[in-house]
Amino acid sequence: MLIIESLTHLGMGRASDGQSLLPRVLPGEEVDVAQDGTLRIVTPSVDRVAAPCRHFKSCGGCAMQHATDAFVAAWKQDIVVKAVHARGLDPVFREIATSPAQSRRRAKFSGRRTKKGAMVGFHTRASDNLVQVTDCQLVTPALLASFPALEALTVLACSRKGEIDLTVTDAVLGPDVLIGTEKELTPQLRVELASLANQFGLSRLVWNDEPVVMMNPPMQDFGGTGVVPPPGAFLQATKHGEASLLAAVDEITAGAARIIDLFAGCGTFTLPLSKRAEVHAVESEAAMLAALDRGWRAGHQLRRVTTETRDLFRRPLEADELRHFDAAVIDPPRAGAEAQIANLAESDIKTIAMVSCNPVTFARDARMLVDAGFVMPWVQVVDQFRWSPHVEVVASFTRK
Ligand SMILES: C[S@@+](CC[C@H](N)C(=O)[O-])C[C@H]1O[C@@H](n2cnc3c(N)ncnc32)[C@H](O)[C@@H]1O
Repeated sequence: MLIIESLTHLGMGRASDGQSLLPRVLPGEEVDVAQDGTLRIVTPSVDRVAAPCRHFKSCGGCAMQHATDAFVAAWKQDIVVKAVHARGLDPVFREIATSPAQSRRRAKFSGRRTKKGAMVGFHTRASDNLVQVTDCQLVTPALLASFPALEALTVLACSRKGEIDLTVTDAVLGPDVLIGTEKELTPQLRVELASLANQFGLSRLVWNDEPVVMMNPPMQDFGGTGVVPPPGAFLQATKHGEASLLAAVDEITAGAARIIDLFAGCGTFTLPLSKRAEVHAVESEAAMLAALDRGWRAGHQLRRVTTETRDLFRRPLEADELRHFDAAVIDPPRAGAEAQIANLAESDIKTIAMVSCNPVTFARDARMLVDAGFVMPWVQVVDQFRWSPHVEVVASFTRK
Protein backbone atom coordinates (compact mmCIF):
# COMPACT_ATOMS: atom_id res chain seq x y z
CA MET A 1 0.00 0.00 0.00
CA LEU A 2 1.27 3.48 -0.84
CA ILE A 3 0.18 6.88 0.38
CA ILE A 4 0.16 9.84 -2.00
CA GLU A 5 2.14 12.63 -0.40
CA SER A 6 1.80 15.47 -2.90
CA LEU A 7 1.36 16.27 -6.59
CA THR A 8 4.09 17.38 -8.97
CA HIS A 9 3.45 20.47 -11.10
CA LEU A 10 2.37 18.05 -13.86
CA GLY A 11 -0.27 16.49 -11.62
CA MET A 12 1.54 13.20 -10.91
CA GLY A 13 1.25 11.84 -7.38
CA ARG A 14 4.45 11.40 -5.35
CA ALA A 15 4.07 8.16 -3.44
CA SER A 16 5.36 7.28 0.04
CA ASP A 17 7.93 4.81 -1.36
CA GLY A 18 9.90 7.86 -2.45
CA GLN A 19 10.08 6.76 -6.09
CA SER A 20 6.65 6.08 -7.65
CA LEU A 21 4.95 8.84 -9.62
CA LEU A 22 1.31 7.88 -10.17
CA PRO A 23 -1.32 9.46 -12.45
CA ARG A 24 -4.82 10.52 -11.45
CA VAL A 25 -4.36 10.27 -7.70
CA LEU A 26 -4.70 12.92 -4.98
CA PRO A 27 -2.70 13.81 -1.87
CA GLY A 28 -3.63 11.69 1.18
CA GLU A 29 -5.01 8.80 -0.86
CA GLU A 30 -4.03 5.22 -0.08
CA VAL A 31 -3.45 3.27 -3.27
CA ASP A 32 -2.49 -0.22 -4.28
CA VAL A 33 -0.40 -0.88 -7.37
CA ALA A 34 -0.74 -4.45 -8.68
CA GLN A 35 2.14 -6.38 -10.33
CA ASP A 36 0.74 -5.52 -13.77
CA GLY A 37 0.74 -1.80 -12.86
CA THR A 38 -3.04 -1.52 -12.30
CA LEU A 39 -3.79 1.19 -9.80
CA ARG A 40 -6.56 0.80 -7.18
CA ILE A 41 -7.65 3.66 -4.94
CA VAL A 42 -8.11 2.10 -1.49
CA THR A 43 -8.94 5.25 0.47
CA PRO A 44 -10.12 8.11 -1.74
CA SER A 45 -9.48 11.75 -0.91
CA VAL A 46 -12.42 13.98 0.07
CA ASP A 47 -11.40 16.02 -2.98
CA ARG A 48 -12.02 13.12 -5.37
CA VAL A 49 -15.09 13.41 -7.65
CA ALA A 50 -16.62 11.39 -10.48
CA ALA A 51 -15.14 12.82 -13.68
CA PRO A 52 -17.61 15.08 -15.51
CA CYS A 53 -16.61 13.54 -18.85
CA ARG A 54 -17.48 9.94 -19.67
CA HIS A 55 -14.30 9.61 -21.76
CA PHE A 56 -11.94 10.55 -18.90
CA LYS A 57 -10.90 6.99 -18.02
CA SER A 58 -9.51 6.20 -21.44
CA CYS A 59 -8.83 9.63 -23.00
CA GLY A 60 -5.44 11.28 -22.61
CA GLY A 61 -6.84 14.78 -23.29
CA CYS A 62 -7.45 15.75 -19.61
CA ALA A 63 -5.37 14.97 -16.53
CA MET A 64 -7.29 16.43 -13.56
CA GLN A 65 -11.00 15.60 -13.87
CA HIS A 66 -10.86 13.34 -10.81
CA ALA A 67 -10.55 16.32 -8.42
CA THR A 68 -13.02 19.01 -7.32
CA ASP A 69 -12.80 22.39 -9.03
CA ALA A 70 -11.74 23.89 -5.69
CA PHE A 71 -8.85 21.44 -5.37
CA VAL A 72 -7.61 22.08 -8.93
CA ALA A 73 -7.86 25.85 -8.45
CA ALA A 74 -5.89 25.75 -5.19
CA TRP A 75 -3.29 23.37 -6.68
CA LYS A 76 -2.72 25.61 -9.73
CA GLN A 77 -2.54 28.75 -7.61
CA ASP A 78 -0.04 27.01 -5.35
CA ILE A 79 2.24 26.15 -8.29
CA VAL A 80 2.58 29.89 -8.97
CA VAL A 81 2.83 30.82 -5.27
CA LYS A 82 5.72 28.37 -4.82
CA ALA A 83 7.52 29.65 -7.93
CA VAL A 84 7.38 33.29 -6.77
CA HIS A 85 8.20 32.44 -3.14
CA ALA A 86 11.26 30.54 -4.41
CA ARG A 87 12.46 33.89 -5.79
CA GLY A 88 11.79 35.65 -2.48
CA LEU A 89 8.69 37.50 -3.76
CA ASP A 90 5.42 37.76 -1.84
CA PRO A 91 2.71 39.57 -3.85
CA VAL A 92 -1.02 39.54 -3.17
CA PHE A 93 -2.75 36.78 -5.14
CA ARG A 94 -6.10 37.71 -6.65
CA GLU A 95 -8.77 35.07 -7.01
CA ILE A 96 -7.99 32.60 -9.79
CA ALA A 97 -10.08 32.96 -12.99
CA THR A 98 -11.01 29.50 -14.28
CA SER A 99 -12.54 29.08 -17.73
CA PRO A 100 -15.79 27.13 -17.80
CA ALA A 101 -16.20 23.65 -19.28
CA GLN A 102 -16.76 23.50 -23.06
CA SER A 103 -14.84 26.70 -23.72
CA ARG A 104 -11.51 25.60 -25.27
CA ARG A 105 -11.64 27.13 -28.73
CA ARG A 106 -8.78 25.27 -30.34
CA ALA A 107 -7.94 21.57 -30.19
CA LYS A 108 -5.64 19.22 -32.03
CA PHE A 109 -7.43 15.97 -32.79
CA SER A 110 -6.12 12.93 -34.63
CA GLY A 111 -7.95 11.14 -37.41
CA ARG A 112 -7.70 7.57 -38.77
CA ARG A 113 -9.48 5.61 -41.45
CA THR A 114 -11.64 2.72 -40.28
CA LYS A 115 -13.51 -0.04 -42.14
CA LYS A 116 -16.71 2.01 -41.91
CA GLY A 117 -15.17 5.40 -42.71
CA ALA A 118 -13.07 7.32 -40.17
CA MET A 119 -12.67 8.07 -36.50
CA VAL A 120 -11.52 11.31 -34.92
CA GLY A 121 -10.50 11.89 -31.32
CA PHE A 122 -7.68 12.20 -28.82
CA HIS A 123 -5.01 9.63 -28.10
CA THR A 124 -5.53 7.42 -25.09
CA ARG A 125 -3.21 7.87 -22.14
CA ALA A 126 0.31 6.61 -22.82
CA SER A 127 -0.60 4.85 -26.08
CA ASP A 128 -1.29 5.72 -29.67
CA ASN A 129 -4.85 4.34 -29.73
CA LEU A 130 -7.59 6.86 -30.45
CA VAL A 131 -10.68 7.57 -28.33
CA GLN A 132 -13.69 9.07 -30.05
CA VAL A 133 -14.58 11.97 -27.78
CA THR A 134 -18.13 12.66 -28.89
CA ASP A 135 -19.05 14.13 -25.47
CA CYS A 136 -15.80 16.00 -24.81
CA GLN A 137 -16.38 18.48 -21.96
CA LEU A 138 -13.37 20.59 -22.83
CA VAL A 139 -13.96 22.08 -26.26
CA THR A 140 -16.62 24.53 -27.46
CA PRO A 141 -19.90 23.16 -28.85
CA ALA A 142 -18.83 24.42 -32.30
CA LEU A 143 -15.68 22.27 -32.18
CA LEU A 144 -17.72 19.23 -31.12
CA ALA A 145 -20.21 19.91 -33.90
CA SER A 146 -17.34 19.85 -36.42
CA PHE A 147 -16.74 16.10 -35.88
CA PRO A 148 -18.75 14.94 -38.91
CA ALA A 149 -16.70 17.35 -41.05
CA LEU A 150 -13.46 16.09 -39.50
CA GLU A 151 -14.40 12.48 -40.17
CA ALA A 152 -15.21 13.28 -43.79
CA LEU A 153 -11.88 15.12 -44.04
CA THR A 154 -10.06 12.12 -42.58
CA VAL A 155 -11.52 9.89 -45.29
CA LEU A 156 -10.10 12.28 -47.90
CA ALA A 157 -6.80 13.25 -46.30
CA CYS A 158 -5.58 10.13 -44.53
CA SER A 159 -3.88 7.14 -46.11
CA ARG A 160 -5.30 3.68 -45.28
CA LYS A 161 -2.88 2.98 -42.43
CA GLY A 162 -1.68 6.42 -41.44
CA GLU A 163 -2.96 9.08 -39.08
CA ILE A 164 -3.57 12.79 -39.63
CA ASP A 165 -3.57 15.80 -37.30
CA LEU A 166 -6.62 18.04 -37.34
CA THR A 167 -6.11 21.37 -35.59
CA VAL A 168 -9.49 23.05 -35.35
CA THR A 169 -10.10 26.62 -34.22
CA ASP A 170 -13.53 27.99 -33.41
CA ALA A 171 -13.82 31.06 -35.65
CA VAL A 172 -16.67 33.56 -35.95
CA LEU A 173 -17.75 32.36 -39.40
CA GLY A 174 -17.18 28.60 -39.04
CA PRO A 175 -14.42 26.22 -37.94
CA ASP A 176 -10.91 26.93 -39.24
CA VAL A 177 -9.21 23.58 -39.94
CA LEU A 178 -5.52 22.83 -40.36
CA ILE A 179 -4.76 19.33 -41.67
CA GLY A 180 -1.34 17.78 -41.05
CA THR A 181 -0.96 14.84 -43.42
CA GLU A 182 1.63 12.99 -45.44
CA LYS A 183 -0.77 12.49 -48.34
CA GLU A 184 -0.09 14.42 -51.51
CA LEU A 185 -2.50 17.19 -52.47
CA THR A 186 -3.87 16.50 -55.98
CA PRO A 187 -6.09 18.72 -58.18
CA GLN A 188 -8.94 16.22 -57.65
CA LEU A 189 -8.51 16.46 -53.87
CA ARG A 190 -8.68 20.25 -54.02
CA VAL A 191 -12.08 20.02 -55.68
CA GLU A 192 -13.32 17.52 -53.10
CA LEU A 193 -12.00 19.60 -50.19
CA ALA A 194 -13.77 22.71 -51.49
CA SER A 195 -17.03 20.83 -51.77
CA LEU A 196 -16.61 19.39 -48.26
CA ALA A 197 -15.85 22.83 -46.74
CA ASN A 198 -18.97 24.18 -48.39
CA GLN A 199 -21.12 21.28 -47.21
CA PHE A 200 -20.00 21.57 -43.55
CA GLY A 201 -19.65 25.35 -43.31
CA LEU A 202 -15.89 25.40 -42.63
CA SER A 203 -14.41 28.87 -42.94
CA ARG A 204 -10.89 27.82 -44.00
CA LEU A 205 -9.08 24.59 -44.81
CA VAL A 206 -5.30 24.50 -44.71
CA TRP A 207 -3.41 21.46 -46.06
CA ASN A 208 -0.09 21.28 -44.22
CA ASP A 209 0.99 24.92 -44.70
CA GLU A 210 -1.08 25.65 -47.78
CA PRO A 211 -4.50 27.31 -47.50
CA VAL A 212 -6.60 25.38 -50.03
CA VAL A 213 -10.13 26.60 -49.33
CA MET A 214 -11.41 29.89 -47.87
CA MET A 215 -15.20 29.91 -47.76
CA ASN A 216 -15.25 32.80 -45.26
CA PRO A 217 -12.46 34.67 -43.48
CA PRO A 218 -11.70 32.65 -40.28
CA MET A 219 -12.19 35.74 -38.17
CA GLN A 220 -11.36 36.22 -34.49
CA ASP A 221 -12.83 39.12 -32.55
CA PHE A 222 -10.34 41.09 -30.47
CA GLY A 223 -12.41 43.59 -28.47
CA GLY A 224 -14.71 44.37 -31.39
CA THR A 225 -12.02 44.35 -34.10
CA GLY A 226 -11.97 41.44 -36.53
CA VAL A 227 -8.64 39.74 -37.29
CA VAL A 228 -7.95 36.82 -39.61
CA PRO A 229 -4.96 35.05 -38.05
CA PRO A 230 -2.53 33.13 -40.25
CA PRO A 231 -3.05 29.34 -40.12
CA GLY A 232 -2.12 27.89 -36.71
CA ALA A 233 -1.16 31.28 -35.24
CA PHE A 234 -1.13 31.62 -31.45
CA LEU A 235 -4.48 32.36 -29.80
CA GLN A 236 -5.36 32.43 -26.11
CA ALA A 237 -6.97 29.05 -25.35
CA THR A 238 -10.43 30.29 -24.36
CA LYS A 239 -12.44 33.47 -24.87
CA HIS A 240 -12.91 33.58 -21.09
CA GLY A 241 -9.14 33.31 -20.46
CA GLU A 242 -8.47 36.00 -23.04
CA ALA A 243 -11.06 38.30 -21.44
CA SER A 244 -9.59 37.71 -17.95
CA LEU A 245 -6.05 38.49 -19.14
CA LEU A 246 -7.23 41.52 -21.10
CA ALA A 247 -9.20 42.91 -18.12
CA ALA A 248 -6.04 42.68 -15.99
CA VAL A 249 -3.79 44.19 -18.69
CA ASP A 250 -6.32 46.99 -19.25
CA GLU A 251 -6.44 47.77 -15.52
CA ILE A 252 -2.64 47.78 -15.16
CA THR A 253 -2.07 50.07 -18.15
CA ALA A 254 -5.04 52.39 -17.44
CA GLY A 255 -4.10 56.01 -18.03
CA ALA A 256 -1.15 55.20 -20.33
CA ALA A 257 -1.36 57.14 -23.59
CA ARG A 258 1.43 55.22 -25.38
CA ILE A 259 1.76 51.50 -24.83
CA ILE A 260 4.25 49.00 -26.22
CA ASP A 261 2.93 45.45 -26.67
CA LEU A 262 5.88 43.02 -26.70
CA PHE A 263 5.28 39.52 -28.15
CA ALA A 264 2.05 40.95 -29.54
CA GLY A 265 0.87 38.01 -31.67
CA CYS A 266 -2.14 38.93 -33.81
CA GLY A 267 -3.19 41.75 -31.49
CA THR A 268 -5.10 40.09 -28.62
CA PHE A 269 -4.09 43.01 -26.37
CA THR A 270 -2.97 45.61 -28.95
CA LEU A 271 -6.33 46.04 -30.65
CA PRO A 272 -8.58 46.36 -27.57
CA LEU A 273 -6.02 48.70 -25.95
CA SER A 274 -5.95 50.85 -29.10
CA LYS A 275 -9.49 51.96 -28.32
CA ARG A 276 -7.92 54.30 -25.74
CA ALA A 277 -4.15 54.44 -26.36
CA GLU A 278 -1.57 54.44 -29.16
CA VAL A 279 0.05 51.02 -29.32
CA HIS A 280 3.29 49.79 -30.88
CA ALA A 281 3.11 46.00 -31.43
CA VAL A 282 6.35 44.01 -31.64
CA GLU A 283 6.49 40.34 -32.58
CA SER A 284 8.77 37.96 -34.52
CA GLU A 285 6.14 36.57 -36.91
CA ALA A 286 5.56 38.99 -39.79
CA ALA A 287 2.38 37.20 -40.89
CA MET A 288 0.80 37.71 -37.47
CA LEU A 289 1.60 41.41 -37.50
CA ALA A 290 0.25 41.72 -41.05
CA ALA A 291 -3.03 40.19 -39.80
CA LEU A 292 -3.05 42.61 -36.85
CA ASP A 293 -2.41 45.55 -39.16
CA ARG A 294 -5.21 44.55 -41.58
CA GLY A 295 -7.59 44.23 -38.61
CA TRP A 296 -6.61 47.66 -37.31
CA ARG A 297 -7.05 49.30 -40.74
CA ALA A 298 -10.56 47.89 -41.03
CA GLY A 299 -11.39 48.70 -37.37
CA HIS A 300 -13.44 51.61 -36.07
CA GLN A 301 -12.43 54.43 -33.76
CA LEU A 302 -9.04 53.01 -32.90
CA ARG A 303 -5.99 55.10 -32.01
CA ARG A 304 -2.75 54.73 -33.98
CA VAL A 305 -1.25 51.22 -34.05
CA THR A 306 2.22 50.57 -35.46
CA THR A 307 3.91 47.19 -35.89
CA GLU A 308 7.51 45.99 -35.90
CA THR A 309 8.75 42.52 -36.83
CA ARG A 310 11.61 41.78 -34.48
CA ASP A 311 13.20 38.86 -32.68
CA LEU A 312 12.98 39.99 -29.07
CA PHE A 313 15.31 37.27 -27.81
CA ARG A 314 18.17 38.35 -30.07
CA ARG A 315 17.31 42.00 -30.46
CA PRO A 316 15.26 43.16 -27.46
CA LEU A 317 14.17 46.79 -27.49
CA GLU A 318 16.87 48.93 -25.90
CA ALA A 319 16.16 51.15 -22.90
CA ASP A 320 16.48 54.16 -25.18
CA GLU A 321 13.82 52.83 -27.60
CA LEU A 322 11.45 52.29 -24.68
CA ARG A 323 11.53 55.91 -23.53
CA HIS A 324 8.59 56.82 -25.82
CA PHE A 325 6.17 54.62 -23.89
CA ASP A 326 4.21 55.04 -20.67
CA ALA A 327 3.50 51.32 -20.20
CA ALA A 328 4.57 47.96 -21.57
CA VAL A 329 2.63 44.73 -22.01
CA ILE A 330 4.86 41.66 -22.28
CA ASP A 331 3.56 38.16 -23.03
CA PRO A 332 6.51 35.94 -24.02
CA PRO A 333 6.54 32.21 -24.85
CA ARG A 334 7.46 29.61 -22.19
CA ALA A 335 11.14 30.58 -22.15
CA GLY A 336 10.23 33.98 -20.74
CA ALA A 337 11.94 37.17 -21.86
CA GLU A 338 15.19 37.51 -19.92
CA ALA A 339 16.94 39.86 -22.36
CA GLN A 340 13.90 42.08 -22.91
CA ILE A 341 13.15 42.23 -19.19
CA ALA A 342 16.74 43.32 -18.51
CA ASN A 343 16.23 46.24 -20.90
CA LEU A 344 12.84 47.11 -19.43
CA ALA A 345 14.50 47.13 -16.01
CA GLU A 346 17.12 49.58 -17.29
CA SER A 347 14.57 51.83 -19.06
CA ASP A 348 12.46 54.52 -17.42
CA ILE A 349 9.16 52.77 -18.15
CA LYS A 350 6.91 53.00 -15.09
CA THR A 351 4.26 50.36 -15.63
CA ILE A 352 4.47 46.79 -16.90
CA ALA A 353 1.75 44.19 -17.38
CA MET A 354 3.42 40.78 -17.60
CA VAL A 355 1.53 37.75 -18.90
CA SER A 356 3.15 34.33 -18.76
CA CYS A 357 2.39 30.66 -19.36
CA ASN A 358 5.36 29.44 -17.30
CA PRO A 359 5.47 30.16 -13.54
CA VAL A 360 9.21 29.43 -13.35
CA THR A 361 10.36 31.91 -16.01
CA PHE A 362 7.67 34.33 -14.81
CA ALA A 363 9.16 34.31 -11.30
CA ARG A 364 12.70 34.71 -12.66
CA ASP A 365 11.67 37.72 -14.80
CA ALA A 366 9.57 39.22 -11.99
CA ARG A 367 12.59 39.04 -9.66
CA MET A 368 14.69 40.98 -12.19
CA LEU A 369 12.09 43.76 -12.28
CA VAL A 370 11.78 43.91 -8.51
CA ASP A 371 15.58 44.07 -8.17
CA ALA A 372 15.52 47.04 -10.56
CA GLY A 373 13.08 48.98 -8.35
CA PHE A 374 9.64 47.77 -9.44
CA VAL A 375 6.97 46.63 -7.00
CA MET A 376 4.66 43.74 -7.87
CA PRO A 377 1.45 44.59 -6.00
CA TRP A 378 -0.60 41.65 -7.33
CA VAL A 379 -0.61 38.51 -9.38
CA GLN A 380 -3.58 36.72 -10.88
CA VAL A 381 -3.61 33.10 -11.97
CA VAL A 382 -5.77 32.43 -15.02
CA ASP A 383 -6.74 28.83 -15.71
CA GLN A 384 -7.75 28.60 -19.33
CA PHE A 385 -6.34 25.07 -19.61
CA ARG A 386 -8.99 23.52 -17.42
CA TRP A 387 -8.29 19.96 -16.24
CA SER A 388 -4.69 20.12 -17.49
CA PRO A 389 -1.51 21.03 -15.58
CA HIS A 390 -0.99 24.23 -17.62
CA VAL A 391 -1.34 27.55 -15.88
CA GLU A 392 -1.28 31.20 -16.97
CA VAL A 393 -0.33 34.26 -14.91
CA VAL A 394 -0.78 38.02 -15.23
CA ALA A 395 0.93 40.47 -12.91
CA SER A 396 1.20 44.18 -12.33
CA PHE A 397 4.57 45.99 -11.95
CA THR A 398 4.99 49.66 -11.09
CA ARG A 399 8.17 51.58 -10.45
CA LYS A 400 8.60 52.72 -6.86
C1 LIG B 1 2.32 33.65 -25.64
S1 LIG B 1 2.20 34.26 -27.28
C2 LIG B 1 1.38 35.79 -26.98
C3 LIG B 1 0.79 36.47 -28.17
C4 LIG B 1 -0.20 37.58 -27.88
N1 LIG B 1 0.27 38.47 -26.83
C5 LIG B 1 -1.58 37.03 -27.55
O1 LIG B 1 -2.00 37.14 -26.39
O2 LIG B 1 -2.25 36.52 -28.45
C6 LIG B 1 3.87 34.68 -27.59
C7 LIG B 1 4.13 35.35 -28.91
O3 LIG B 1 5.54 35.58 -28.98
C8 LIG B 1 5.96 35.39 -30.31
N2 LIG B 1 7.40 35.10 -30.25
C9 LIG B 1 8.00 33.91 -30.01
N3 LIG B 1 9.35 34.06 -29.99
C10 LIG B 1 9.60 35.37 -30.23
C11 LIG B 1 10.79 36.14 -30.34
N4 LIG B 1 11.99 35.59 -30.19
N5 LIG B 1 10.68 37.46 -30.58
C12 LIG B 1 9.46 38.04 -30.71
N6 LIG B 1 8.30 37.36 -30.64
C13 LIG B 1 8.35 36.04 -30.40
C14 LIG B 1 5.09 34.27 -30.85
O4 LIG B 1 5.00 34.30 -32.25
C15 LIG B 1 3.76 34.55 -30.15
O5 LIG B 1 2.94 35.37 -30.96
